[in-house]
Amino acid sequence: MSEPSPWRGDFPAVAALERQQQTYLDSAATSQKPQAMLDALTHYYAHGAANVHRAQHLPGALATQAFEECREKVAQWLHAGAPAQVIFTHGATSALNLLAYGLEHLIGNGDEIAVSALEHHANLLPWQQLALRRNARLVVLPADAQGRIDLNEAGALIGPRTRILAVTQLSNVLGTQQPLAPLLALARQHGALSVVDGAQGVVHGRQNVAALGCDFYVFSSHKLYGPDGVGVLYGRSEALGRLQHWQFGGEMVHLADYDQASFHPAPLGFEAGTPPIAGVIGLGATLDWLASLDTEAVLAHERALHQQLLRGLGDREGIRVLGAPDTALASFMVSDVHNADLAHLLTDQGIAVRVGHHCAMPLFKRLGLNGAIRVSLAMYNDSTDLQRFFEALDRALELLR
Ligand SMILES: Cc1ncc(COP(=O)(O)O)c(C=O)c1O
Repeated sequence: MSEPSPWRGDFPAVAALERQQQTYLDSAATSQKPQAMLDALTHYYAHGAANVHRAQHLPGALATQAFEECREKVAQWLHAGAPAQVIFTHGATSALNLLAYGLEHLIGNGDEIAVSALEHHANLLPWQQLALRRNARLVVLPADAQGRIDLNEAGALIGPRTRILAVTQLSNVLGTQQPLAPLLALARQHGALSVVDGAQGVVHGRQNVAALGCDFYVFSSHKLYGPDGVGVLYGRSEALGRLQHWQFGGEMVHLADYDQASFHPAPLGFEAGTPPIAGVIGLGATLDWLASLDTEAVLAHERALHQQLLRGLGDREGIRVLGAPDTALASFMVSDVHNADLAHLLTDQGIAVRVGHHCAMPLFKRLGLNGAIRVSLAMYNDSTDLQRFFEALDRALELLR
């Protein structure tokens, strides 16, 4: 049994959900928010909203300062060398689309872009569409039975034609951490740019993008206990220098005339229009709050809870867990039971889990399945949530079998 979560009380929504008799086990989709983040949002809006990087007045200067301080906080959080290596986007999806357009000019006829079989649509479709636009080849690195990218196969598939390698850090379906170090080394060896989709990975433990050695790393604030509508794109300075501008408008422009314009380099040159100011400030407050916690204690709590989840699923007859999850979530199916029926009965009992293809349709096709039920955990969950889940699961299976 895991200890009660010491951080549960810091998330007002968890108590609110309990009052609605809801047990929230869908944090891989989006997380609940800490009070510290809510306070920062309220403070910003209650003390005078203003646009950033343009106004001369005091509210504008204060908003710009707060916004740029958050860029520094994100850079520190990721161990990026400098704040200028952090571009704010509207989410991981928009960061990945930025990359697929920004790097388009580097892709030619017959070039290869490598992704894994595990990718979320957000880290598959932008590359697939780029390959189609440039007559390039999308190479899919297979995963092994456990749900990790197969390094032998990757060694054979990543080669001199590979221009970009784009892989997830932690599978949102299988809950498996990926062998990034050898994969990134393969990309480097062949002169390919590397993109790590950290949307799930960033939530579980501190990241060090410099040590990881990737060219680009992306994540969404909303999964990391921050506000939605904000994404982060980190880039190595040289890699950022290779990006072409992709969205055009206010603030990203240096000089404009009717027939031509010049643009800022990263980060501002890739933040066209008004950025998500409040969201970025909220993310900064979330990172401050996360930095005040004992990361090892959070990870130990999550690990204990995850073990409890896997044991409970393993103890029940007819349950098949997909792959060999090592972090924070598990997807499963029950033999002779339709996912949708089970999900319906869990929902009726106030259990908020996710059912379906989890934005990874090609993976499910490869697995020969039409979906699964996913339970995902966060630092505010504890054993009581899992007890409720398993009680509801047992009642549902009694009815269905
Ligand atoms: C692994 C992974 N990548 C990318 C995304 C896309 O994130 P967003 O919808 O916040 O852009 C998700 C969201 O579930 C994800 O799990």
